[in-house]
Amino acid sequence: MEAKLKQLQEEAIEKIEAAEGLKELNDIRVAYLGKKGPITEVLKGMGKLSAEERPKMGALANEVRAAVTERLEEKSEKLEKEAVNKKLASETIDVTLPGRPVRKGRKHPLTKIVEEIEDLFIGMGYSIAEGPEVETDFYNFEALNLPKGHPARDMQDSFYITEETLLRTHTSPVQARTMEMHKGKGPIKVICPGKVYRRDNDDATHSHQFMQIEGLVIGENIRMSDLKGTLQVFAKKMFGEDREIRLRPSFFPFTEPSVEMDITCKICGGKGCSVCKGTGWIEILGAGMIHPNVLEISGFDSKKYTGFAFGMGPERIAMLKYGIDDIRHFYTDDVRFLNQFQTQE
Ligand code: DAH
Repeated sequence: MEAKLKQLQEEAIEKIEAAEGLKELNDIRVAYLGKKGPITEVLKGMGKLSAEERPKMGALANEVRAAVTERLEEKSEKLEKEAVNKKLASETIDVTLPGRPVRKGRKHPLTKIVEEIEDLFIGMGYSIAEGPEVETDFYNFEALNLPKGHPARDMQDSFYITEETLLRTHTSPVQARTMEMHKGKGPIKVICPGKVYRRDNDDATHSHQFMQIEGLVIGENIRMSDLKGTLQVFAKKMFGEDREIRLRPSFFPFTEPSVEMDITCKICGGKGCSVCKGTGWIEILGAGMIHPNVLEISGFDSKKYTGFAFGMGPERIAMLKYGIDDIRHFYTDDVRFLNQFQTQE
């Protein structure tokens, strides 16, 4: 019996050593150590042994079991390690392979123009204010000296949502909101960029949704010359030092006096061409001294405070600066158009 047990041990260990996989190893475990295995089978014959030999054989059987178990564990550990190493080897990354180029997006030309204008005014001490695109009739019109029924409301065909709410037709309501937040106390120096909406048919120069940038300055002793100086700096920085500006009288309900600013045409240098329609000047923005009613409605004492405001369309500015002939290019996402504004940022 002793010889038989030893032989079984050897046989099992040989098989374990030869095993190539964990499944095979498990089969060996079941075959040799299981209840129906040969070791158990041999031990069934213990009854025939003498009382002296019985415990010896018992101990030997335990040794055999322990030895086989130990080998099984060793081998299983080894096989597991090998499997992991094989997996790692198959997943090795070749860091010397050339990388695939990453296709990066870039800023939309309109975003770039707006950021350029923002930076320019931030450099002059302005901060940026924003307001909602769904606006109340009060901020969009009434607070800007455009009471209900005012004929100038027709200048801005509006998308009404209810009687009292609409998609803002300009960024001027942010003026009123900013003034209200300052609770009658100056100074204020902000620009307000954002989207605006008008019930216009889209064509080369009109879009039902476009952008505006509003400027608002309020303080004591703010004068028309401050407005002119500011606009002059803006025009030269934006379009070139050689450009001249002129202010033409105009009308806006929220400013008095009101002006429109023109710059000299770059194409013809002021001589007159098709772009400037023979005048030598191109209209850029509307501006003026804030109407006392507008100051008072938003809680500012118009005897103490004065101010100026201006409003411009960044699409128009980008069109002039880059020679773009159709406003719809900004909104139709044709990559052939957008790719022309590729820069490093
Ligand atoms: N809100 C005007 C418009 O959309 C533009 C404008 C003109 C804004 C004069 C101003 C301003 O602040 O002073 O047509």
